[in-house]
Amino acid sequence: MLVDSKKMFEDAYKGGYAIGAFNVNNMEIIQGIIGGCAEKKSPVIIQVSAGARKYANPIYLRKLIEAAVEEHPEVPICMHLDHGADFDICKQCVDMGFTSVMIDGSHYDFEENIRVTKEVVDYAHSKGVVVEAELGKLEGVEDEVKVASGEGSYTDPDQAVEFVERTGCDSLAISIGTSHGAFKFKGDPKLDFERLDIITKKLSGFPLVLHGASTVIQEFVDKCNQYGGDIPGAKGVPEEMISQAVKSGVCKVNIDTDLRLAMTAEIRKAFHDNPGNFDPRGYLKPARTAIQEMVMHKLDILGNINRI
Ligand code: G3H
Ligand code: 13P
Ligand code: ZN
Repeated sequence: MLVDSKKMFEDAYKGGYAIGAFNVNNMEIIQGIIGGCAEKKSPVIIQVSAGARKYANPIYLRKLIEAAVEEHPEVPICMHLDHGADFDICKQCVDMGFTSVMIDGSHYDFEENIRVTKEVVDYAHSKGVVVEAELGKLEGVEDEVKVASGEGSYTDPDQAVEFVERTGCDSLAISIGTSHGAFKFKGDPKLDFERLDIITKKLSGFPLVLHGASTVIQEFVDKCNQYGGDIPGAKGVPEEMISQAVKSGVCKVNIDTDLRLAMTAEIRKAFHDNPGNFDPRGYLKPARTAIQEMVMHKLDILGNINRI
């Protein structure tokens, strides 16, 4: 069933688990995700980035997500825009049937972030669509904007309260030390859980979102490298930290990189094992299975099993 994320978040918050929000770019990824969620009986957020829209054409992605809804009517599926850069892209997605959009105004100053977020909230809510916003900057390179590392860019708890009140957004992505991609930490992984706890206390019951939450599981990095890859120094957020964040009130966890690694490792292996094969199904089928297995593993970590 195609739904928004409101009830998902309420249930997750009450139940002390989190919803997985997985990025999609093609049919095999969507099939792997929905297959994993159907098996684990888990509601899910399927999210589409600007890059995915550019790669696949938004119409194809919407139709593929609709196919997943049709194939598994028992699974609550939220169709979500990831990192909407401005009002126009959010409006386009609302108008084409998305049930949730993210307006990412985190690169603006506080007042401009509030202004653009409120503009999106007003439009989306008038059409029954929910809105995720972001306050604080994720470190690293995001859409070609490089954010310097340091706590200066982390979410300020008092500002978070004011931001939610003034914008009316439905969920908030916060910055506590995660970043996008496969190279999240130079030294030991470290997140600001103290800050997260303060935000959770001040915004009691309000859905918080953790971006850049892939673990970069070493087994999959090694497998990529074993079959000809070259991904040195990759490091993500340890699974214990994800569990701790969920316990501390995070109810949406964004995962893309771990799916990319799982898929790439399997395709590399298939090329290595079957050099004579040139039928794409020969490598896309195991890649799809690898996505499904990774999603099921993530749902275990998020405590999101038997929830539908
Ligand atoms: O926000 C980051 C996601 O991993 C999406 O990445 O913009 O390359 O599709 P992308
Ligand atoms: P990862 O790169 O850690 O998977 O994060 C994905 C994300 O936050 C998408 O918005
Ligand atoms: Zn993100």
